[in-house]
This record gives sequence, C-alpha cells and structure tokens, in this order.
Amino acid sequence: MKKLLFTVCFLVAAGIAGGQKANGEKEPMGSLIDKQFKLAQKQYQLLAKNTPANRMPKTYYPNSKKLESSDTQWWCSGFYPGSLLYIYEYTKDPETLAEAQKRLAILEKEKHYTGNHDLGFMMFCSFGNAYRITKNEVYKPTIDTAAASLITRYRPGAKVIQSWNSSKKWRGPVIIDNLMNLELLLWVAAHGGDEKYRKIAIEHADATMKNHFRKDYSSYHVVDYDMNTGKVIKKGTSQGAADSSAWSRGQGWALYGYTMMYRFTKNKQYLEFAKNIARFILNNPTMPHDQVPYWDFNAPGIPNTYKDASAAAVIASAFLELGQYTKGKEKTAYVSHAEQMIRSLSSAAYTAREGDNGGFLLMHSTGALPLKSEVDVPLSYADYYYLEALLRYKNWYL
Ligand code: GLY
Repeated sequence: MKKLLFTVCFLVAAGIAGGQKANGEKEPMGSLIDKQFKLAQKQYQLLAKNTPANRMPKTYYPNSKKLESSDTQWWCSGFYPGSLLYIYEYTKDPETLAEAQKRLAILEKEKHYTGNHDLGFMMFCSFGNAYRITKNEVYKPTIDTAAASLITRYRPGAKVIQSWNSSKKWRGPVIIDNLMNLELLLWVAAHGGDEKYRKIAIEHADATMKNHFRKDYSSYHVVDYDMNTGKVIKKGTSQGAADSSAWSRGQGWALYGYTMMYRFTKNKQYLEFAKNIARFILNNPTMPHDQVPYWDFNAPGIPNTYKDASAAAVIASAFLELGQYTKGKEKTAYVSHAEQMIRSLSSAAYTAREGDNGGFLLMHSTGALPLKSEVDVPLSYADYYYLEALLRYKNWYL
C-alpha cells in the first residue's frame, strides 16, 4: 500500500512537472518551455563548474556521482556549446554566451579533424548555431573548413561519405547517423560554398535511401560498402540489439536526416521518405504510452528494459520540422506526438531536479547498450535536441 501511495504521488508529481496541473489541466506549452529554459540555465551553470576548462561534458553517473568529460575529438564535442547557445538564444543570459564562447575556442581546432564522419555533429551544432545566433562572421571560416575536412571522407566509387575507418569488422562502414552530418555540407553550399558540397550530400542521402532501409522503412545501423565499386558487403549493427533490429536513435537520425534534406533541396522524394520513416515510428507497437522509446524498437525484454530519452528528443525535434512541411491530419499527428514527447521529457520522470544529474537537464538516455556504454544516463545530445525541440515548438507552434 505504501509502495502504491508512493507510486501515485510520484506520477502526480511527474505529471505536474511535465505540464499536467493537479486539477488535470495541461500546462500551456509556453509556460512549460519557459520553466525548462530557466532550469536549463541553472543546470548548465553547474555543468560548467563540473567540467574541466579544456574538455566537454559527456555524461554523469548518478550512483557514483561522477561526471565524465571528453576531449574535443569525441563525436559529441559540439553539443555542449550548442546547448549553451540554445539556452542563450532563449534567455539572453550573457554568462551562458560567455561559457559557450570559451568552449567554442577549445573546439575550433577540430575543424581540421578527418578521423571519422562526425564533423557535422561536432562543428555545425556548435559553430553553426554560434553563427546563426550571434551573426558574427568570425565563425564562418571554421564552418567552411569543417565541411572541407568532412568531404575528405567522400568515396566517389560508392558515392558515400565513409563513417568510420576500415577495421576487422567493417571494410567501408557507413552508419545511419551520417545523414546528420550532411546538414553542414548543404548549409555551406547554400552560403557561398562550392556546389560539390551539395552534390556529395545528395549522393550520400540517395545511396543511404537505397541501401540502408528495410521494406517497413526501418533502418539498419551499419552498411558496409566496397568503396571502389559501391557494392554492399553486409548490413548490420554496432549499437542496436541485433543486425535486423531498429535501433531507436538510428530511426531518429533517419527521420531528422530526410526532413533536413527536404528543407535544403525541396525534393519531394525526401519528404515522402521522412513520412514513411515517421509512420514506422508512430505505428510501432513497442512505442510506450509516454512516447519515449525503448533503446531499440526490437529490444529484448520490452517493457523491462532501458528507455532512450535522446531518441525521443531527436524524434520530437524532427517531427516538429516535419509538421512545417505537412498539413491537416498529418501535421497534427507529428506535432501532437512531438508535444507528448516534450511533455514526457519535461516531467520529473526525465527532467533532473535543480542541482542534480551533474548539471545535465535530462536523465535516462542510452548510448550503446550492447557495448555496455552509457546506459541509463544523461547524455549531451539528449539535452541538445530537447532544447532544440523546445525552441522549435516556441518559434513555430505557440
Ligand atoms: N552517433 C552516435 C550515436 O548516435 O550514438
């Protein structure tokens, strides 16, 4: 009975924090967004204090109360400055901007990095937002150089950008996440850059459309190519539950990726593809009531397994953009599901209490469960795409 009472109290509290008032009415999204940004500002002051000056926050282990940081070559190094910039965009807090600028300064050298495909995540979520928000021209050459570094990984024989270097397991691996890095190339092409950046992005997106998806529009995580001929050697996974499974964040990258491709190209094929991926996600029988997916749509043991708040954040942000390109019932479905995801992530079930979680905003993400890495922890990209979704909702739907 005591346990039941605790559960009821917790759910009521979670509901209130997530936008459900005690009388059952939903909190208006405007006030929920405002509350979350004010909390984010405070949390990120703590995160700034907890993170060594020459590194980026990566995750936090609540049991040992240990914050893990990364160097600037880690694929997530752009998300912390990017989140600070989103917080600044909403709050206009000068200290938050100053902290973002400090971290951009240590990140800048990675514009020359060519060790993998993650340049878009690293340099566009950070410097792209810095340029957009501050309009300071000083950031532009860094973005341009990062795009030039990224296309060193373009393989003309297969018409794709190689994600990781060859290894014992993969010869020419391309992972679904790679779609996200194309935004950097398309943006540079649209802002005075060489047309080749756009051409490479389109070729990569088209090859991925052809080779990465199953009949139900779920995506493989990894496709291994012969980079000389473009022949597919095998399809499998690194972070998913199985080669044949639908790793949740990967489905989010795919949805976001093709929606973004449509933004830049206005090619209807990409829009239709994004809608088909959306259908897979929305109709998935394993999607929980709170719309925060388990870490893999085919994870063994559902519902007794881990959630991935980062997947929900990516999907919510993508649905909000897809809502911009659709009408009627379709638009309503995308926006209302995104809203439900945001409300859930904003509840006490996922949002940390002020001063907790090492300074991260969201709890309960899963990085790579099969690799026993970052399981049920905060992650910098969950916060980033969640904050982006809040801003998108405010700018487009309030
Ligand atoms: N891009 C790596 C991941 O989503 O875990």
